[in-house]
Amino acid sequence: MARQRGIYVDHVILGLETSCDETAVAVVADGSRVLGEAVASSASLQARYGGVVPEVAAREHVAALPALVDAALADAGLSGRDVDAVAVTVGPGLLGSLLVGMAAAKALAVAWRRPLVAVNHLEAHLAANALVGPLVLPALALLVSGGHTGLWLWRADGEWERLGQTRDDAAGEALDKGARLLGLGYPGGPAVEALARTVDGPGGRRLPVARLSGSELDFSFSGLKTALAQGLAQQPEEPARWAWALEEAVVQALVERVAAAHARYPVDRLYVAGGVAANRRLRERLAEWADGAGVTVVVPPPRWCTDNGAMVAAAAALRWNRTGRLPAAPLSVAPDTLLELGRPAGPA
Ligand code: KG4
Ligand code: ZN
Repeated sequence: MARQRGIYVDHVILGLETSCDETAVAVVADGSRVLGEAVASSASLQARYGGVVPEVAAREHVAALPALVDAALADAGLSGRDVDAVAVTVGPGLLGSLLVGMAAAKALAVAWRRPLVAVNHLEAHLAANALVGPLVLPALALLVSGGHTGLWLWRADGEWERLGQTRDDAAGEALDKGARLLGLGYPGGPAVEALARTVDGPGGRRLPVARLSGSELDFSFSGLKTALAQGLAQQPEEPARWAWALEEAVVQALVERVAAAHARYPVDRLYVAGGVAANRRLRERLAEWADGAGVTVVVPPPRWCTDNGAMVAAAAALRWNRTGRLPAAPLSVAPDTLLELGRPAGPA
């Protein structure tokens, strides 16, 4: 047990996240107290291209990472000596981006003589909820990001049963593509949200929420883009109303599936995670549904919904606390761009 910043802690983990276009570092004590954070995003640079260009993202991670590690440690008032383990996202994500974060994490682990922990990005998103308060399981888990959309029954710490997933685009991807059609920048989710907030409703515009026969807990968002393109061609005036309709369609699809999952698995808690969980309308609508259903809904604050370093450290800490030992990975651990939730990230 070490004394850090006037409090006693069991362990301090440095978390590194570079799977997409955010370069993020955080210092987390005992998996629950975020002592320091630093984040940079190449989103404004990517906006020029209308989406994430992998090579640009990787190059920006290289440029940003050293200063961000220093900044997160300085924010925590600590030095590398105080860090007990270095946790890093090893997948899923963009290969070049993952490689940069992993190379940095390996270098730090070697330099500080500390273990390296390989973290699954999806597990990390859900683990962000452990930064809000102790996990109470079983629960439903909704993960909505730019690369993934799925619903799980979170049976116990480290045990997920997939109930539904997207058949095509992720929820965030649908918002990003819709934003492009609306002439908005990247990332699209926050831009659509901001534009939608300038109007009081869709003014009669409607976008369909796809329902899939045979699997009511799966999602499909790819039809939204076509419907929006057609709608905009017929009714190009007041694009803000289309933004409203787009946000509504995505939110409705998510809330509907959560309600259907809860009808089958009536647990009393819902954990939400991923970049789209930063969306205010989604948060409000889930809270309304949860109120009626007698469910406690937990959503991390927006900065821990989008990609961040704290969730990576939190995921490593959950495993540490669960098993009582550090799940150290060999330095040879490689990125796994297609890693799924529930599959261990590298040898544990
Ligand atoms: O979790 P995340 O940062 O990265 C991935 O793992 O994909 O999620 C990024 C996604 C993007 O599609 C972005 O448009 C969306 O999250 N997003 C939002 C909001 N903030 C980010 N979508 C809706 N409303 C927001 N406020
Ligand atoms: Zn993410």
